[in-house]
Amino acid sequence: MINVGKESRGKFVTFEGIDASGKSVQAKLLYQRLQNNGVDSVLLRDPGATRISERVRDILLDNAHEEMSPWAELLLYEAARAQMVEETIFPALADGKVVICDRFYDSTTAYQGYGRSLDLNLVKQANTIGSIGLVPDLTFLIDLDPHVAIERMKKSNRANDRMESAGIELQKRVFDGYRKVAALEPERFSVISGDQEIKVIEKIIWNIFKNKFEWFFSLATGKEDR
Ligand code: TMP
Repeated sequence: MINVGKESRGKFVTFEGIDASGKSVQAKLLYQRLQNNGVDSVLLRDPGATRISERVRDILLDNAHEEMSPWAELLLYEAARAQMVEETIFPALADGKVVICDRFYDSTTAYQGYGRSLDLNLVKQANTIGSIGLVPDLTFLIDLDPHVAIERMKKSNRANDRMESAGIELQKRVFDGYRKVAALEPERFSVISGDQEIKVIEKIIWNIFKNKFEWFFSLATGKEDR
């Protein structure tokens, strides 16, 4: 596997969207595409990706924890993230890899800030700590109407976790929150309609990735794209 070497930092790409928006499928497809092109990359999920963060994830998503304070929820997401950033993301970026993360701190702004109505300034401060100051180079927001997303959830046989069980009103606030967050940082965000064929979305994402990181991509692969 080729990577661009220790002297240059890798690229940090995140995927965002409400539950059942299709962002995880797209994160995986981008990862596979990079692998097929010989670009050294890693795929992570937030919360998760490390032993400790996965344990925190279990606490966060456990339906039995219905009494969880939104402030505790905020800090647990940040704790899981800080562990992942330090243990996994920083070393991978220092190694010149492309790090793809299924969710990052924009999820906290959308869910805990807009969804749970916590003070946005405090959420921002918490996000700086939880991400240890790391900012994504590129963020894909898969934009899907919450009603469509809820129908998708109903159709899948999987049981809802604690966050998914919170209902349509939370999802609607999260959806609006994401749009506001993306509008504030148009340079970093690519907003893509999630109401399209998986393959169509995949192609859009791949083209945006290649255009944004053209020099990096050609350096990492040294050949035509596959
Ligand atoms: P996932 O379904 O993408 O794996 O994410 C798990 C759930 O956690 C999802 O419902 C969104 C929620 N979440 C937050 O509420 N705040 C956060 O900061 C993150 C990363 C996820």
